[in-house]
Amino acid sequence: MPDNYYTNSLNAQRLWQVYDTAIPRISEYLQRETAFVRDRLKKTDAVLEIAAGYGRIMKELASHVESITGIEISDGNVSFGGEYLKNIANTELLTMDAHNIDYDSCFDAVLCLQNGLSAIRADVPEAFAAKVIRALKIGGKAYFSTYHPNFWEQRVAWFQEQARKGLIGELDVEKTKNGVIICKDGFRATTHSITDLEKIGRSTGCLWQIHEVDDSSIFLVIEKEDCK
Ligand SMILES: C[S@@+](CC[C@H](N)C(=O)[O-])C[C@H]1O[C@@H](n2cnc3c(N)ncnc32)[C@H](O)[C@@H]1O
Repeated sequence: MPDNYYTNSLNAQRLWQVYDTAIPRISEYLQRETAFVRDRLKKTDAVLEIAAGYGRIMKELASHVESITGIEISDGNVSFGGEYLKNIANTELLTMDAHNIDYDSCFDAVLCLQNGLSAIRADVPEAFAAKVIRALKIGGKAYFSTYHPNFWEQRVAWFQEQARKGLIGELDVEKTKNGVIICKDGFRATTHSITDLEKIGRSTGCLWQIHEVDDSSIFLVIEKEDCK
């Protein structure tokens, strides 16, 4: 398996095809996930999206905020995103490894959506969350989302669709279980439980809340205000 499956194989036009789904329930899930964040952002917000791909979510949110910066590890995504986001002046998509973020009190909101903690392989998510909180201004909020456990069958159907399109390897149906998708070519997508997200929230010393959205996503929202 390549070091980073997304960088080496699932980027740019191929990542776009992942989201060009024919499954209505998946389209609804994606819309509801973005809407949850959009409804909580302000027109004056400076926003950072971590692991932003080619800017799919950035494009949806741009007109609702002051500015939105995406960081993304794949040059292919950043270059495809240049075209995808062209003429949207308040967006900026940068090639950067999420683990190297070094922002201090710069953003009103930081987004790590689409099961982002799994995508970036945050082995110690509490340490990564601390970097995210540092990037927030006082009063800013971090949004982490993952799949709702009730969405497992729909999630598997979506990954099967991706495999049929040749975007990922064939699913290993024996090993695909307990929130973890495993393909025969080595692709692996994990998930975080509510308990995992609660542990991350507690580790920050900030105010935090869990939200279950649409029976498809779970969000951990952390507010920097009142951090110890
Ligand atoms: C499932 S895609 C989601 C893309 C985007 N958030 C969206 O919803 O359209 C996961 C993204 O994480 C990116 N990624 C993986 N590891 C990363 C890292 N260490 N730093 C930054 N981006 C990373 C991948 O290249 C890929 O674009």
